[in-house]
Amino acid sequence: METIFSGIQPSGIPTIGNYIGAMQQFINLQDDYNCFFCIVDEHAITVPQDRLKLREQTLGLAALYVAIGLNPEKATIFIQSEVAAHAEAAWMVQCNTTIGELERMTQFKDKSQKNNQSGISAALLTYPPLMVADIILYNANLVPVGEDQKQHLELTRDFVDRFNSRYGTPDQPILTKPEVKIPKQGARIMSLQDPTSKMSKSDTNAKGFISMLDEPNVIRKKIKSAVTDSSGVIEYDVENKPGISNLLTIFSAMTGQPIADLVERYKDSGYGTFKTDLGEAVVAVLEPIQTRYQELLKSEELQNILDKGAIDANKVAKKTLQKMRNGMGLGRKGRLSQ
Ligand code: TYM
Repeated sequence: METIFSGIQPSGIPTIGNYIGAMQQFINLQDDYNCFFCIVDEHAITVPQDRLKLREQTLGLAALYVAIGLNPEKATIFIQSEVAAHAEAAWMVQCNTTIGELERMTQFKDKSQKNNQSGISAALLTYPPLMVADIILYNANLVPVGEDQKQHLELTRDFVDRFNSRYGTPDQPILTKPEVKIPKQGARIMSLQDPTSKMSKSDTNAKGFISMLDEPNVIRKKIKSAVTDSSGVIEYDVENKPGISNLLTIFSAMTGQPIADLVERYKDSGYGTFKTDLGEAVVAVLEPIQTRYQELLKSEELQNILDKGAIDANKVAKKTLQKMRNGMGLGRKGRLSQ
């Protein structure tokens, strides 16, 4: 069976962008792959975080993973910082990555512009090597993500080639080269307030995103006030009608109905009716998830899932880490203490 790795930052409550771009893929793929789904808290601290909130969001994200339907019997669900190998492997990745490669990352450029008041952490630049480490430690064949992570995956693939050619042999590569998996539709859900920019859980304008834990009435309201255009015609045209096209994408992802069918169904309706129905469609998906989420947070079940996840993840990660150490000549051969 091939292996999947993916992660989400607990830097806020996941949005329907995270759900559509990443989580829906996790659910669809979990039966056919050996899966590792990570809560990447070490990535979250590349920008300042409130420690108590971070803890709460970390546990909350774990609960959401289970609440959306990931099966902890099949998939390993774990917290990144509970597997020390990530930080150690990331160092080895950094030693084989150039500053130029990292400075070219568009996410670094964006985030360093946004976070420059309090000084940009060095880790914001070295964030992609940590992501590379996450993926290679589990020998992932496939990484399901939204479109914004594509460049990081290209970096990962380049890194694996470089590492294998420097430290492995052509017939015995040390690391597995992963493929990226981006959904055909919904790979980039846009802000409800500015449909030309990506929906983000850290948006300062809460009206721009729907959090997976927003109450039903808040969801309905946010969709009602989503920016569209003045034509009143429901059609899919990303360039000229980005707002309504984004809503159509969300509608389609939430209900499984093709966009063309939705356009046909609403061709004689105004935006009002369309938005009301979309609000109900989003609530119908999120409400049961929220109920399950609340149950999980109160139970011991979640702690047990994460304990087991950390043990299982550590086992796999340590093996790869040892191979990397051997490849690079670190430590003494065959004398690793742990
Ligand atoms: P993060 O936490 O920003 O987002 C988690 C996942 O959600 C996707 N996503 C979106 N998809 C569609 N529309 C959107 N508006 C949208 N916003 C976010 C992201 O593409 C991602 O798949 N660096 C990663 C986390 C990470 C990771 C990894 C992912 C760390 N290590 C290893 C895969 C493999 C990140 O910041 O995701």
